[in-house]
Amino acid sequence: MVSSQFGWKKNPFSFRLMSDFFIGYNKEKMEVYQGLNNGDKFALLLGPTGSGKTTFMMYIQRAFRNYKLLFLPKPPKNPSDWIEIFNPVLGRPFPFFKRNISLYNLHERLNKKLGSKRCLVFVDECHEASVESLEWIRSIADQTENLSVMIAGLPVLEKNLKDSLETLLKRVTINVRLTNLTKSETRELIKKRIESHGGTDIYPFTNEVVDEIYEKTAGFPREILRICDDLVKKAVEKNMTTIDINFMKEMDTETTARVAIETVDRLPERQKTILKLLSSRGAMTPNEIADSAGGMQEYKDKGNAIRAMNNILKRLMDDGFVERDRQGKVYVYKVSGKLKTILVTA
Ligand SMILES: Nc1ncnc2c1ncn2[C@@H]1O[C@H](COP(=O)(O)OP(=O)(O)O)[C@@H](O)[C@H]1O
Ligand SMILES: [Mg+2]
Repeated sequence: MVSSQFGWKKNPFSFRLMSDFFIGYNKEKMEVYQGLNNGDKFALLLGPTGSGKTTFMMYIQRAFRNYKLLFLPKPPKNPSDWIEIFNPVLGRPFPFFKRNISLYNLHERLNKKLGSKRCLVFVDECHEASVESLEWIRSIADQTENLSVMIAGLPVLEKNLKDSLETLLKRVTINVRLTNLTKSETRELIKKRIESHGGTDIYPFTNEVVDEIYEKTAGFPREILRICDDLVKKAVEKNMTTIDINFMKEMDTETTARVAIETVDRLPERQKTILKLLSSRGAMTPNEIADSAGGMQEYKDKGNAIRAMNNILKRLMDDGFVERDRQGKVYVYKVSGKLKTILVTA
């Protein structure tokens, strides 16, 4: 098990949301904190999948414990769902007592119920929201004095708003974009994850490995966690207690080999036939290939067959499976060094 091998309580890199820390983005955290604290109405949080949007919203909530907080993992489909969403603020009605709340008077009830208390609504995955749904929360927040809203979504959300909800976009005063972490933040993310699971610093990773993880992921959080998870699982499999750069490179080669073999396996029959031919016979010209490869009868004439061979060879070259050398007037093709190494290591 991953945890026992490294003395952790649990695998730190399992894809679990942890909101007790949020690495980096200090300027943004401050902007959001101050903005919401000052009663700004609308915050927009954008970033690709895995950049930390959900975590960021969870983390921000922690600073507003004395507020009424609502977190919606998804925007409501129908605008009328907003009424029920505010139930925790409105409290439960007396039994048999009909409240008669509609989207048109919801803000009145909210104003009355909230009094001087403040309420924050966080809505995740808003790129999926309907215009009507967002239009209503815009209007409700506009008219409810102590209500602020943070909407999060993929970068495309901004375009959606521009195209069909300019009214909402114009009201956004807090704007946060999540992208990737710096090199030192990458290290900090790994370290914090490990230490919050009972481990020490970046152990079992070496500095070099952490640097390499940064190079490979460009500091993109979800990818960092994915690579770490992959490495610790492989280390456990191979009973390694340190994950150094050699181990990482070895695992990379194994993965590349596996992926390449699977890719070769999935190639169209004709490409596979040619690869097999080249790997058993060595370098060949398109002319020789056309003469020997099976199934060439289906071409009208030799010229057609050679043209077809050239096309297939070009595909194989583009994918890095085949290389060519010029010999006098013709090109000779052979299996690429890369593919050879892979086939040998595998
Ligand atoms: N700045 C950060 N600090 C700490 N963890 C982060 C950070 N950014 C992302 N993560 C982690 O990366 C993973 C993906 O984040 P998540 O919030 O699910 O992204 P999104 O909602 O944008 O798809 C989560 O496990 C999260 O804890
Ligand atoms: Mg999310």
